[in-house]
Amino acid sequence: MNEPVRIEDLKPPAEPYLLKEEQLAHYEKAYRSDYQAWAQVLGENVERIRRGSYSLHWMNTDGGNWGKRAKPSSRGLTYTDINRVRGYGDIPAQADWKNFAPRGSIREPYRDRMPVVDDYIVTSRDELWADNVITLYEEAKARQWNATKDIPWDELEALPEDLEKATCQLCTFLTEVEFVAGDFPAKWLYRTPQDFLEVKSFLATQLMDEARHQEVFRKRAIAGGGLLHASPGFEWALKAILDAPSHTMGTFLLNLLGEGLVLSVFRAGEMIAKTQVDKEIFRRCLQDEARHVSYGVLELKNYLATHPDRERGVEEMHRFADVGEQVILTAFTESALVEPVAVLLGGGLKQIDKGMEGLGHMWRVFIEEYLQRCKAAGFDRQDRCTIPLDLPWGIAA
Ligand SMILES: [Fe+2]
Ligand SMILES: [Fe+2]
Repeated sequence: MNEPVRIEDLKPPAEPYLLKEEQLAHYEKAYRSDYQAWAQVLGENVERIRRGSYSLHWMNTDGGNWGKRAKPSSRGLTYTDINRVRGYGDIPAQADWKNFAPRGSIREPYRDRMPVVDDYIVTSRDELWADNVITLYEEAKARQWNATKDIPWDELEALPEDLEKATCQLCTFLTEVEFVAGDFPAKWLYRTPQDFLEVKSFLATQLMDEARHQEVFRKRAIAGGGLLHASPGFEWALKAILDAPSHTMGTFLLNLLGEGLVLSVFRAGEMIAKTQVDKEIFRRCLQDEARHVSYGVLELKNYLATHPDRERGVEEMHRFADVGEQVILTAFTESALVEPVAVLLGGGLKQIDKGMEGLGHMWRVFIEEYLQRCKAAGFDRQDRCTIPLDLPWGIAA
């Protein structure tokens, strides 16, 4: 018989999310302490309105870039086209406008009266710039797709249970990955000042891409049987990416290493996907992921090429890689990833050993591509790579 519930054992209900009095008081206090600055603006404007006069200072073009009209190119009007207009395309090496004033606007006269957004900490161009970022942004916009409508969901065939479970487990893993792939650019997007607007725009597309990937894999799992197991091995890897102390380090971990691995998985989509629907999902995600990897490689290349002490920069990269490779190894030895992929590659649970051989091949391709990417970014990892070129789990070796 159940013990009677005693009133003193009952836990208080979870607190609903409510704005706490201290939080509100802190916010009010902060604005009151800045009151002098903005009350002056308010006072001047009110006074002018009382006098019944207009300011019209905004029609004065001194110190601005007025009158030079941007011309579209064959693709339309891109950031590259407007950046050609003198006064708008100079991307500063150091951003010192920590507010929302647009690059190229008449903003200097107001500098001292502007608020400061303390969260804008990525103020060095070479912590995030990549020469392909504008092109990738254009491509990202042109290739957006809709996980609700563009996947032929009504054609999804039921698979034998082993293949269905393997597919759904892989989708569960990918869902976990896609969350961090979205949270990472989100974390840095809001820390990036407006002067790097091209990068901010690109990161926003990456966010949208990752939201759609999370969506499509979640839908695929639930349409095929259900989500299966979450996995600690991935979780540590994903947290390491999110916790990276700089944008460059995180870009190495996410874009070059993590997404590089995901790209290899998607590229094997023809062999892993067991239905046309799955093939279509992998094909579409592959295109998106290729952009993210491409940004990462050129961002790191730019970082090293402009580093004031290149040798130190390269050494930093190796330190990132020492952590990152172990993180990837932790993820890629997880049975909740390795085994379903092997089942899919082999064509069924009975052929899991054969699938492991295929996986061994995939692993080698992945490491080779990873090492090539490091080289393309400007640091040679060939002799320092800490993960084995052959299967790290040694079953089929
Ligand atoms: Fe993704
Ligand atoms: Fe991605």
